[in-house]
Amino acid sequence: MTVHFIGAGPGAPDLLTLRGRDLIAACPVCLYAGSLVPEAILAHCPQGARIVNTASMDLDAIIAEIRAAHDAGQDVARLHSGDLSVWSAMGEQIRRLREEGIPVSVTPGVPAFAAAAAALGAELTLPGIAQSVVLTRTPGRASSMPEGETLANFAATGATLAIHLSIQNLARVTADLTPAYGPDCPVAVVYRASWPDERILRGTLSDIEARLGTESIARTALILVGPALGAEGFAESCLYSADYDRRYRPQSAESPWATWSPADE
Ligand SMILES: C[S@@+](CC[C@H](N)C(=O)[O-])C[C@H]1O[C@@H](n2cnc3c(N)ncnc32)[C@H](O)[C@@H]1O
Repeated sequence: MTVHFIGAGPGAPDLLTLRGRDLIAACPVCLYAGSLVPEAILAHCPQGARIVNTASMDLDAIIAEIRAAHDAGQDVARLHSGDLSVWSAMGEQIRRLREEGIPVSVTPGVPAFAAAAAALGAELTLPGIAQSVVLTRTPGRASSMPEGETLANFAATGATLAIHLSIQNLARVTADLTPAYGPDCPVAVVYRASWPDERILRGTLSDIEARLGTESIARTALILVGPALGAEGFAESCLYSADYDRRYRPQSAESPWATWSPADE
């Protein structure tokens, strides 16, 4: 018996990995975080599966469900939105399951920041502009931020910021970021990326709040900020540069890559 933690993706039911789909289909028990996991994904559960929405359950109740499946020798598909490596509460569940000697596996999913970038048609790392993406959030009612993980500190790096769980704090986000990025720094708010009601708002640090004004976007939105979001005049990468000497495209017989073949790897 194994508990398979599966990243269910950002919303569109077909943004699920094949491995995730097959595991769901093989598990007689499915626990899913109903606040964000699309119900259409549950169609992959086998007929007669026990399907439990954990949105209103506490950790003890979730572990009790899993323990019951374990005692019955039944594999469990445990679905969380996006990917499991960020804000999934997988860590605390795995810790409990390890204490109980219950085996687990982890299957990644498409994270919301990647779905939001796709909706924008944007690369978040552009040569010479930004080479880092910071996945972060602002403090919430139930979650404080570790000292040092402030928006101002991240902004000082010039990286692209993907700010989760924070649309209700947009005023604070813009106030904290403006000193480092400047009022004209591009911002995009992507609401429910990949869902049928996906919406995109573009603006700058100085006007994004006003643009959001009348929109009823209160949750499930990502705020992307950074110079890379609006950049046009960035350099081309060396990867496809015609005269860049590289393993897959040696430029001369003297190139260190001239005699290399993929079989050498
Ligand atoms: C609890 S976190 C889950 C993150 C998820 N594990 C991931 O990999 O993206 C929920 C936050 O992720 C963001 N989010 C999740 N799904 C989203 C989507 N489809 N579009 C935009 N933002 C989304 C929002 O900021 C939301 O408040």
